[in-house]
Amino acid sequence: MCDKECAFMIVVKSHGEFRQQTRKTILESLEVNNLEVHTSCREGFCGACRTKLNKGSVKYITEPLAYFEDDEILPCCCVATSDIEIELS
Ligand code: FES
Repeated sequence: MCDKECAFMIVVKSHGEFRQQTRKTILESLEVNNLEVHTSCREGFCGACRTKLNKGSVKYITEPLAYFEDDEILPCCCVATSDIEIELS
C-alpha cells in the first residue's frame, strides 16, 4: 500500500525514515528532511556523496562517473525504485 503519490520509504539508519520527495533525488529528499550528506559536484562525478545502501534498489537519473562500491549509492543522482535503507557516514 502506498500514499497517493506512491513515494518509496527512505530509512536512514539511526536517523529515522521518510518518504522520497516526488521528482527529487535521494540527496534532495535527505536535505528536505535536514539530513546532511557530503557533496561537491551533485552530478555523479566526484563520489563525495557515496552512501551505504543496506536494502532496496535505486535508479540513476544521470549516468554516475564516480567510483563506488556495489553496496553504495551516489544519492545526488539517483531515486529509489523500492523502499530503501541507507547509512550516513
Ligand atoms: S556529490 Fe559528487 S558524486 Fe554525488
